[in-house]
Amino acid sequence: MGGVKSIPQTRFSHSLKTIEVKMKKFIVMLILIAVIIGLIVPLTARDIQLLRPKFEKGTTLQEALQKRQTDRSFSDKELSLQQLSNLLWAADGVNRPENGKRTAPTANNRQEIDIYVAMQKGLYLYNAEKHVLVLVQENDIRKETGKQNFAEEAPINLIFVADFDKMKGDDDAKIFYSATDTGFISQNVYLYCAAEGLGTVVRGWVDKEKLAKVMNLRPEQHVTLAQTVGYIK
Ligand SMILES: Cc1cc2nc3c(=O)[nH]c(=O)nc-3n(C[C@H](O)[C@H](O)[C@H](O)COP(=O)(O)O)c2cc1C
Repeated sequence: MGGVKSIPQTRFSHSLKTIEVKMKKFIVMLILIAVIIGLIVPLTARDIQLLRPKFEKGTTLQEALQKRQTDRSFSDKELSLQQLSNLLWAADGVNRPENGKRTAPTANNRQEIDIYVAMQKGLYLYNAEKHVLVLVQENDIRKETGKQNFAEEAPINLIFVADFDKMKGDDDAKIFYSATDTGFISQNVYLYCAAEGLGTVVRGWVDKEKLAKVMNLRPEQHVTLAQTVGYIK
């Protein structure tokens, strides 16, 4: 009879074995991928998801303005996650999700000021769009954020960094507008702290070059000011 040739038994069982070996390799690969993902996820999980801003104290704007002041003596008491979330949202959070605009104005809506947060557990970058603190490095760099001793004692030091890559014009314009834009953010922090009963001081007395190195900033990123926040001692 012509047509279909029968496969010999030995060849058939050989191909079955090959399929079995390939399947095993595939399963081992899947397990390896799962292990790698399992290792990576906890790494990114060290970012801090902030809470929706909630202002329960009900301080009026007039009361906050009356209480606004600079403080230079801080306890090491940590802020709660809710306070940290409120602080960053007040500083420069998104207050109009429909267009991504923020609580502080910026010239031409360049949004060039990044807020870095130096805490004992590490240095974080505030992502306003996602309302998340992204881990930058695990080192405690609070001491490097200023030349005054209270910087390393207070739980929070904000570092305002202007990204000149996001701006237009010459360097004079970039310096002027980024300094101005930082001022609005800083005042938001002052008013939040006044309303919440926290202490704060904005600081220009910073070794900016050294700090930029410690933070691994790009050449187009410039520290404008730092601001300490914490409970008053
Ligand atoms: C741009 C700027 C930079 C400042 N730098 C520092 C600083 O490095 N260290 C400090 O202790 N205070 C600093 N201050 C805080 C001022 O000394 C303070 O605002 C001023 O004495 C007025 O006090 P008040 O904020 O309580 O009204 C700075 C303030 C501004 C606006």
